[in-house]
Amino acid sequence: MSLLEKHGIIERNATLLLVSSLVVVSIGGIVEIAPLFYLENTIEKVEGVRPYSPLELAGRDIYIREGCYVCHSQMIRPFRDEVERYGHYSLAAESMYDHPFQWGSKRTGPDLARVGNRYSNEWHVEHLTEPRSVVPESIMPSYAFLKTTPLKVSNVTAHLNANLMVGVPYTEDMIANADADLMAQADPEADTSGLEERYPKVQVGDFDGNPEVVTEMDALIAYLQMLGTLVDFSTYDEAAGYR
Ligand code: HEC
Repeated sequence: MSLLEKHGIIERNATLLLVSSLVVVSIGGIVEIAPLFYLENTIEKVEGVRPYSPLELAGRDIYIREGCYVCHSQMIRPFRDEVERYGHYSLAAESMYDHPFQWGSKRTGPDLARVGNRYSNEWHVEHLTEPRSVVPESIMPSYAFLKTTPLKVSNVTAHLNANLMVGVPYTEDMIANADADLMAQADPEADTSGLEERYPKVQVGDFDGNPEVVTEMDALIAYLQMLGTLVDFSTYDEAAGYR
């Protein structure tokens, strides 16, 4: 029997064709999926990446609540025009503690993956209060109310715990100090040695210019100012990523 005739048998028998197709497809599936069960982590670790501080995490919540991701991406693709405009392309590790991630799919405004330290806190307050006062042609909405809305701080410990459950390595120490760390980061007068030890490179300050109360504006700016600042690309070894 020729090969063509053998194949004819399969093609004329619906059950045999179905079963054979399933066998072929599952071999492909196993080859792709099985190794994932034996890898501890599919994301290469990169020095400097750490979980969000409590204030940054609260700011990230506001970013999500206000739908900033509808107009802003946080994903610099490895294309020359993007890298020249925004900086080093995004590494998988840089969003490994994001639940959910904020890569986005639409850029009405610029990518924000490395906006940290690009502007002063004062600029952010101005811009979020009245975008057109600093960028006349801007179509970004005003978020002035964030400045007068005190940050809800009562749920921060629970939030750290929830992130711990999905794999963010918050330590007992971080969780026990969550409330204090949140307040300390927004207070330039506070003793921040513990905070800085737990969250290296954390930026401390009175972000919104109002020392009386910790507002949603404080939290959002603390979050924006850390975006893309954790990995030191002057020492990042690109080749090590391809070992
Ligand atoms: C309707 C779309 C839209 C929404 C929603 C939006 N933005 Fe924007 N954003 C823009 C546009 C357009 C620009 C560019 C003009 C400008 O700088 O204002 C911009 C610029 C920015 C910049 C300056 C970036 C740079 O590199 O110059 C920051 C920071 C920013 N937005 C943060 C936010 C945050 C935080 C939120 C949510 C509270 C938000 N945006 C919501 C459209 C939007």
